[in-house]
Amino acid sequence: MFAGIPYRRGYLLYGPPGCGKSSFITALAGELGYSICLMSLSDRSLSDDRLNHLLSVAPQQSIILLEDVDAAFVSRDLLPTENPLAYQGMGRLTFSGLLNSLDGVASSEARIVFMTTNFIDRLDPALIRPGRVDLKQYIGNCTHGQLTQMFWRFYPEEPASEADRFAAQALAVHSEISAAQVQGHFLLHKMDPAGSIDNVAQIK
Ligand SMILES: Nc1ncnc2c1ncn2[C@@H]1O[C@H](COP(=O)(O)OP(=O)(O)OP(=O)(O)O)[C@@H](O)[C@H]1O
Ligand SMILES: [Mg+2]
Repeated sequence: MFAGIPYRRGYLLYGPPGCGKSSFITALAGELGYSICLMSLSDRSLSDDRLNHLLSVAPQQSIILLEDVDAAFVSRDLLPTENPLAYQGMGRLTFSGLLNSLDGVASSEARIVFMTTNFIDRLDPALIRPGRVDLKQYIGNCTHGQLTQMFWRFYPEEPASEADRFAAQALAVHSEISAAQVQGHFLLHKMDPAGSIDNVAQIK
């Protein structure tokens, strides 16, 4: 606590599936020596009281992780017809209960809160306003440089030119490729780097 400012940071990672949001948080926790407290908001048995309790007993050295926050609540601005899940009285967790719990976390000791979503547009602005989410980071599909590095990691014996060829060919065939797709593709061609380049069209 410094001059009344709680030492708490909230982060939102958003973007398409399989691009590394959850992996990044896991890696960060490992690096910091923190554990991860995963709160599943879509759990129907989770109530306001229970969430509050869980957040208050979460260990100090831990990252609080709310995965797929869009699945539990969608923007209150949406019409009920556009609003398939939330605000239909399902579950005992209410949106205001969640906000209050998050703000309660702020009043305790140092805290890191991460949220992830594939659909940032569906989130209520109140959930991701500064103070609750201090940094929003888009994690998108693979760039040329990332594809090159992944190839290199997987086939360390290969010359750099091959990694470059893989990245160029992959992006020529697909406009969007996630890291998860690339990883799956490499595993199919574990011992065959040339084959993984020749068959980039099969990435799916
Ligand atoms: N940047 C990356 N480099 C290497 N592998 C990656 C990267 N990003 C993701 N992967 C691999 O892809 C798989 C899926 O990644 P992850 O679960 O982190 O995606 P996500 O963004 O959380 O997806 P979702 O939105 O569906 O939850 C993991 O097995 C991970 O090893
Ligand atoms: Mg994830």
